[in-house]
Amino acid sequence: AAQEPQAEISAEKLLAPVLSAFWDEDGSWTLDTYRRHEGYEGLRKALAMQPDDVIAYVKESGLRGRGGAGFPTGMKWQFIPQGDGKPHYLVVNADESEPGTCKDIPLLFANPHALIEGIVIACYAIRSEHAFIYLRGEVVPVLRRLHEAVREAYAAGYLGKNVLGSGLDLELTVHAGAGAYICGEETALLDSLEGRRGQPRLRPPFPAVAGLYACPTVVNNVESIASVPAILNKGKDWFRSMGSEKSPGFTLYSLSGHVASPGQYEGPLGITLRQLLDMSGGMRPGHRLKFWTPGGSSTPLLTDEHLDVPLDYEGVGAAGSMLGTKALQCFDETTCVVRAVTRWTEFYAHESCGKCTPCREGTYWLVQLLRDIEAGKGAMSDLDKLADIADNINGKSFCALGDGAASPIFSSLKYFRAEYEEHITGRGCPFDPARSTAWA
Ligand code: NAI
Ligand code: SF4
Repeated sequence: AAQEPQAEISAEKLLAPVLSAFWDEDGSWTLDTYRRHEGYEGLRKALAMQPDDVIAYVKESGLRGRGGAGFPTGMKWQFIPQGDGKPHYLVVNADESEPGTCKDIPLLFANPHALIEGIVIACYAIRSEHAFIYLRGEVVPVLRRLHEAVREAYAAGYLGKNVLGSGLDLELTVHAGAGAYICGEETALLDSLEGRRGQPRLRPPFPAVAGLYACPTVVNNVESIASVPAILNKGKDWFRSMGSEKSPGFTLYSLSGHVASPGQYEGPLGITLRQLLDMSGGMRPGHRLKFWTPGGSSTPLLTDEHLDVPLDYEGVGAAGSMLGTKALQCFDETTCVVRAVTRWTEFYAHESCGKCTPCREGTYWLVQLLRDIEAGKGAMSDLDKLADIADNINGKSFCALGDGAASPIFSSLKYFRAEYEEHITGRGCPFDPARSTAWA
């Protein structure tokens, strides 16, 4: 059903960027620029507090993980046992690769010091002396920029021995991955970082108990950690004044697809796709929205009936989807939904790590069925087969990749079953007859 329009959010709130505030400035990535914008002030305030108080402060701010799952960041830090005699690690997941998601990589490129400052604060809080950034290896320009920013931070005394005279010793290692989607799953990432083939580990134990080298480890997304300095500097109440009660604060949305101006847009959680389209110039001229993903292809599709759904964990959840990475991929009426779902499913089949049978075999079979349907060689019974296979993957796979692969199947059948049927009865794609292979 169509959602009730939400209360107006003031333009001021929509357009007061924090993370992306000075991305357009020359040399936005340098330490000098960062300091001119109150950079490393949050760290000074954190170091004046006790580590446990920093954890409590972040918890009270309500910050939720920005990697997709929305787990409370302060609570994750609090899970790290203290006085256990083991090293503690912070690992930043910068392996961004959810289809449609492009916010961590631009953030690192334009403002790497926000992440580095957040890392120092987090390590002080959880009493860690070694942090890692696991970066998607293909983005070599970002890797270079990150290395340079880390070098600047060491030279200025924000990293290394006795950070700013606080007694904290902290090493930061930047590691480039080799480009596997599964290495963004936190335990596969840890295996990869340890030098093994990246495949998910059984959870529990969660990384907070046994993570990197079997030691207590916080794994956080880039945007989550980069949001922490502003919270410490400007206050938890300021942070809570944005967003909604259960999903407070600002965030980066990735807007892509058939929109007039794709890119990264910053705003509070809880705004709507309609508002984001209004502020970004809307769909491409002469076209209308047909379907979209709230958080990349792993989150169930929504339609133009859901334009006023609040983009927070509760609002998108109530609409039958998930907020995920806030990657809003918008498709207009010229798009064949069967084609889009086929492409996503090919991606999941390719990226499946092969560890568990439902995902390894199921994604393969989904691709075969979808390609047949798209080419006009499908039968009506294939639609039930699609749903059945997706059902055997969903919740029965070892990690979230399986659930992600099933999600566009379920939601596209829910909203666009007629379009699938049209491919079958018309023996081909109604949007692109040239792609069809007639039986006769
Ligand atoms: P999850 O909900 O299982 O866990 C979220 C976080 O909370 C993890 O760090 C986990 O260790 C921690 N956690 C949960 N319960 C815990 C407990 N009882 N004790 C200690 N720690 C606990 O979600 P998961 O499988 O880690 O991630 C799935 C999400 O990843 C999806 O929502 C999807 O949107 C997102 N995703 C993001 C991608 C990207 O490129 N950013 C790519 C693919 C998926
Ligand atoms: Fe590997 Fe897929 Fe199983 Fe995850 S769900 S462990 S990616 S085979």
